Amino acid sequence: MLNRTLSSLVTERNSRAELLIDLGIDFIKDGNLTLLEVAEQLQIEPNELVEKIAKQDVIHTSPKDTDWNKVTLRELIRHIVTKYHVPLRKALPELTELAQNASKIYGDDHPELIEVEKIFGAFRFTVEAHLLSEEKILFKTIEHIESGNVNWRSDRSSNDEIKIRIREHDNSLDDFKMIRKITNNYQVPENTGETYRKWMEALKELETNLYLHMHLENNILFPRASQLAIEQAKSASAH
Ligand SMILES: [Fe+2]
Ligand SMILES: [Fe+2]
Repeated sequence: MLNRTLSSLVTERNSRAELLIDLGIDFIKDGNLTLLEVAEQLQIEPNELVEKIAKQDVIHTSPKDTDWNKVTLRELIRHIVTKYHVPLRKALPELTELAQNASKIYGDDHPELIEVEKIFGAFRFTVEAHLLSEEKILFKTIEHIESGNVNWRSDRSSNDEIKIRIREHDNSLDDFKMIRKITNNYQVPENTGETYRKWMEALKELETNLYLHMHLENNILFPRASQLAIEQAKSASAH
């Protein structure tokens, strides 16, 4: 397992994501690093890391997840939109309400919630536009490339599109790193209650889904689309 990349470990079992995030392992930015490299970087005993993952796998005995490297890009895009875009878009207004309620109830004693609400508001603003850009522009282009309708060379802007979307992913994950820091890893202080707990749980769940969503884009969809474009360009110049 130590020689496997973070990306392949999460692809195989999505249930490993939460553990890795909790350990401060960023399988989006470092998706191509092996478990051993990450252990060395974070100064964690490698075997301890393997053991933790094995334990997590015992808790989640569900069958392995779909290997999204092996389906068409169109299918992968459909999966990303149904599994992540649609639910996220639906959840955002409810989460805003929860954030506001939590600030209202506990904000005086816990000003960190006001800060979290602010960061969440900025995140929501960015991510709503982000989802739309992917669906309306980038995903459509990728589907066209796969069906052979567009040659990537004649559409260089797509490379820039990918870079912009990746930068937005980085920014969103930074928002959550900040929220983790402010809330001390989503801790619920003793003198608070139900709404505080609900809000922390919702944020943690949102974070895990966000990582899994971006894992599919950064580690699978975007590299596969770029690779396809390179192959198309090669075969076009060979003719
Ligand atoms: Fe997306
Ligand atoms: Fe995205």
